[in-house]
Amino acid sequence: MVSRVIPVDPFDLVIFGGTGDLAQRKILPALFRRFCAGQWVDGAQIIGAARKGYDSDGFRDLVRESLKTHAAKQCQEVSALESFLRRLDYVALDGVSDEGWGHLARRLKPGRVRAFYFSVGPRLFGPLAERIEAHGLITPLTRIVVEKPFGHDLDSAQALNATLAAHFSENQIYRIDHYLGKETVQNLMAVRFGNMLFEPLWNSQYVDHIQITVAESVGIDGREEYYDRAGAMRDMMQNHLMQLLCLIAMEPPAKFDPDAVRDEKLKVIRALDPVEPHHIVRGQFEGEGSGYRQVVGNERSTTESYVALRAHVSNWRWAGTPFYLRTGKRLVARSSVINVMFKDAPHSIFGADAGRHANVLSIRLQPNEGITLKVTIKEPGPGGMRLVDVPLDMSFAEALGPENQDPPDAYERLVMDVIRGNQTLFMRGDEVEAAWAWTDPIIAGWQARGDVPKPYDSGSTGPGDAELLMKRDGRRWQGINP
Ligand code: BG6
Repeated sequence: MVSRVIPVDPFDLVIFGGTGDLAQRKILPALFRRFCAGQWVDGAQIIGAARKGYDSDGFRDLVRESLKTHAAKQCQEVSALESFLRRLDYVALDGVSDEGWGHLARRLKPGRVRAFYFSVGPRLFGPLAERIEAHGLITPLTRIVVEKPFGHDLDSAQALNATLAAHFSENQIYRIDHYLGKETVQNLMAVRFGNMLFEPLWNSQYVDHIQITVAESVGIDGREEYYDRAGAMRDMMQNHLMQLLCLIAMEPPAKFDPDAVRDEKLKVIRALDPVEPHHIVRGQFEGEGSGYRQVVGNERSTTESYVALRAHVSNWRWAGTPFYLRTGKRLVARSSVINVMFKDAPHSIFGADAGRHANVLSIRLQPNEGITLKVTIKEPGPGGMRLVDVPLDMSFAEALGPENQDPPDAYERLVMDVIRGNQTLFMRGDEVEAAWAWTDPIIAGWQARGDVPKPYDSGSTGPGDAELLMKRDGRRWQGINP
């Protein structure tokens, strides 16, 4: 299958925090890959802006080294690398004073898309937004991109939204949740709404329950301070898992356009019931000398590195079908999978001996993206009607050909969508606030009860209580397989 590259018009992209980790590891490599793919060409410029004292050549050297690590394959083409670097520029600029802004203003070209990427901590969002406006840099084609975490709770998210809204309209604000940029996450919509097969069964009449697992084998190295304040609930559940839940549970939008999709997602979040305390399990990884508390350097930390919970979407489609969500660090494998567990057939014509069989649709998001449908067939050979479950397995890489073995990184898609002006894969302000409104009481409950997370071994599938959460309901988690 041939990939189709639709070139974008020349643009100016300013990356505040351009020398920082995210810019060097994700944003600039993504831009470089799109450049190599021919998606953006002459005339476009990328301006790194930061406080550190680089000049343009120094900035290019820094980026050259980062690309060698984070876009190694594309860097083999030396002429492409140098050609990309020539499109980079640098402005020394202070987010909290007016120094450097005149310089930046002179670099920007009139009449074209102008995107400001806030790859900085949220405390700088306000000062940056103010200065962009004060220096007359807002045009009808201006967009800003903000990263997660978008707030720490509902109040702080509302305050951030209000700060940005004082300078930009909602259709200029691109809030990133990088899970939405993943190819396979977008595929959830294609699978659901591009096939007649699944949608008629996609409701509580046929679906027993849904499991959403985002397991990570990595820990939190290098982000200890942030993580110990956030925990798995804020870091993963409130945003990435919530987005997956929305895409699985939402009604079909009338069309694939930004507000139609986001309206439907918002309805799902607003339909979520508060989560009962006994439907949540928190965990913290342990390990000889490398347990969570040692890693964060806080022997009394009660921050969770794992959370599993049972959620309910109280609407016509899903009443009575629980959604079990779990995510954690230092688990047995890196594996993100959504399992749609269908109900047993209402009556077995083969009698009790045939056992119980139910279809399972597994959507593997990463790694080994693909879909498996577990179906029941007759075991071959004589011996009566013996039933057995077999997988109908489709790996996207195999089905779509070798060039799709290496899907584009989420940031490639998202940054190009900013330039194109397509907000479908970005979170709207009300969506983020609704997600915090659901999350806040859960966290407040833990604090009020002095809840302490359950220990689990590094390299395991999480705390035993997460198994009990399912067992009590007569169900069990599917395995976490790499
Ligand atoms: C980030 C979280 O948003 O997502 C990290 O802050 C997490 O803690 C990461 O590791 C996971 O992203 P991915 O793309 O590796 O699944």
